[in-house]
Amino acid sequence: MEGISLLILATLIATSHASHVEIPRPIHLLRPQTGAGGHHIQGISCFSWRLGVETNNIRDWKTVPLSCEDYVGHYMLGDLYRKDCKLVADAAALYAQNLKLAGDGKDIWVFDIDETTLSNLPYYAKHGFGAEPYNSTQFNEWVYTGKAPPLPENLKLYKKLLSLGFKIVFLTGRAENQRKITVTNLKEAGYHTWEKLLLRGSSDENTTGVVYKSGQRKKLEKKGYRILGNMGDQWSDILGTHTGNRTFKVPDPMYYIS
Ligand SMILES: *[C@@H]1O[C@H](CO)[C@@H](O)[C@H](O)[C@H]1NC(C)=O
Ligand SMILES: *[C@@H]1O[C@H](CO)[C@@H](O)[C@H](O)[C@H]1NC(C)=O
Ligand SMILES: *[C@@H]1O[C@H](CO)[C@@H](O)[C@H](O)[C@H]1NC(C)=O
Ligand SMILES: [Mg+2]
Repeated sequence: MEGISLLILATLIATSHASHVEIPRPIHLLRPQTGAGGHHIQGISCFSWRLGVETNNIRDWKTVPLSCEDYVGHYMLGDLYRKDCKLVADAAALYAQNLKLAGDGKDIWVFDIDETTLSNLPYYAKHGFGAEPYNSTQFNEWVYTGKAPPLPENLKLYKKLLSLGFKIVFLTGRAENQRKITVTNLKEAGYHTWEKLLLRGSSDENTTGVVYKSGQRKKLEKKGYRILGNMGDQWSDILGTHTGNRTFKVPDPMYYIS
């Protein structure tokens, strides 16, 4: 805030002295890069890096840059991540409540699970917030605890969608052999009902997320379902084909799945 008001002040001064042709002050003098936003990777701020991954300008990245671990950690555990999630959930709720549903049980909302409806933040907080290379053995051990908490903003959205008459489909990259623990975890977290829970079967084990999920959504539409909303934390959740009438991207600067 202070930086912004300084900037406004400087702009006002510059405007009032415009006839004297003052050289505008460079912005970096007005907004020194301190605190979390000041961490740099090769001269690029971690804020810019996060913006780059959220907009899908940066792709196929393996891990969070080590120099951005603190930045991503503060973001994930602080207010901003939650506010960003709320903004997405509120936009989705506003869209959903203005839709006229057919009411034949075929109006569906597709939710991804990890980092969309359930949060693995307790796991990632112990593993560098995505700065450590992904270890499937360790991650699956965490999944089998069944202790992933809900993303509060999206649990609220889920409840709202149910009250509006949507059927819920969970479409996840988790494997079929994790169905039982996933059901337990979803219910424990407050997701008590759904139309379908689609997990990755053995025939999809070598396909990318975007191919697997597009195929599943195609099957849903073939069965007469109308995908009115589709929400996920990965771009591969919402790109591809049969993406639904509208997509919503939940923030996730910790990992990338193609
Ligand atoms: C992944 O974690 C397991 C269990 O802790 C460990 O045995 C294994 O060496 C790790 N793999 C890699 C590539 O670090
Ligand atoms: C997936 O890849 C593995 C290793 O290359 C292979 O053994 C397996 O048969 C493949 N599965 C399918 C369904 O293609
Ligand atoms: C959803 O998209 C389809 C295809 O574009 C369109 O026909 C349909 O009217 C849309 N549904 C709603 C509720 O907007
Ligand atoms: Mg996910």
